[in-house]
Amino acid sequence: MSNKQMKRILVTGACGQIGSELTLALRERYGGANVVATGHRTPPGPELRDSGPFEFINVARRETLDEVIAKHDIDTIYHMAAILSAVGEEKPHLCWDVNMNGLYNVLEAARDHDLVRVFCPSSIAAFGPETPRYDTPQETVLRPRTMYGVTKVAGELLCDYYVRRFNVDVRGVRYPGIISAETLPGGGTTDYAVAIYYEAVEHGRYTCFVREDTVLPMMYMPDALKATLDLMDADFGSLVHHSDFNLAAMSFSAGELAAEIRKHVPGFVCEYQPDFRQAIADSWPRSIDDSAARQEWGWEPAYDLAAMTTDMLDRLQKRHAAGQLYQQPCDC
Ligand code: SER
Repeated sequence: MSNKQMKRILVTGACGQIGSELTLALRERYGGANVVATGHRTPPGPELRDSGPFEFINVARRETLDEVIAKHDIDTIYHMAAILSAVGEEKPHLCWDVNMNGLYNVLEAARDHDLVRVFCPSSIAAFGPETPRYDTPQETVLRPRTMYGVTKVAGELLCDYYVRRFNVDVRGVRYPGIISAETLPGGGTTDYAVAIYYEAVEHGRYTCFVREDTVLPMMYMPDALKATLDLMDADFGSLVHHSDFNLAAMSFSAGELAAEIRKHVPGFVCEYQPDFRQAIADSWPRSIDDSAARQEWGWEPAYDLAAMTTDMLDRLQKRHAAGQLYQQPCDC
């Protein structure tokens, strides 16, 4: 199964924070016409819309997925559609429906249509308060307290089941919080680490919804894209794990992040007003041991906090100067 080539790709959640940049990276690599962006509501902004096909699907409705797979002769899926941790606590039933039924539909479609490969991300949300908090090992306690985390653990197990039982080539990583300058994240606990940059550029101040001493594992988008593409390129035979790779780049507190931004934005003020997301953040690890990813497919991150902050602020300040700090919101 691993020797077949990925030629016709479908991305679910293509308008989301990761999906939007991943779609463009895949189009760069495989050609715009060969990468079908999909979402369930608003059509994408001009960059996504003009660089290749877009189709409406609802991952929780299998027939909508099947139709697009058949229409575009799809052989590979990057399944990025998901309800994240904060919205998942507000709407746990929706979170289960989208994350679990959506994944089940993708895996069943992969089996029925004999797809070459599937990518399905997991998250640091798979961990919980009983998990070792520092250098969290690859094999460890998975007892999350959020519905999002429950769906991620169940999803990892389901993906690995499809690898063993049905020979479906499914791969995935436990993304840390992802920081990016293009599409805003929606409904996650780690969103403060993105919002802080935007607000620093626009207002010179930010009110953070977690405490100053809250430390979480984070990663800059170029590294997240590299990890995704590299894992999908890896030789299947060299993989011991499949759907649950720990992945790390950097860890810092909200206060350290604010201090780094202050080096570029003098006088930047950050205040802290923790809300319900504090408890979610407190249930996740502070740092991650990603040695399995390093050994099995050569994972190595490029960005640390300083390099990421320089790049983020450079991009956002240019957009702010052009009056386009906040890109067109896209809710698909
Ligand atoms: N960034 C996600 C969230 O905060 C974690 O995977 O929900």
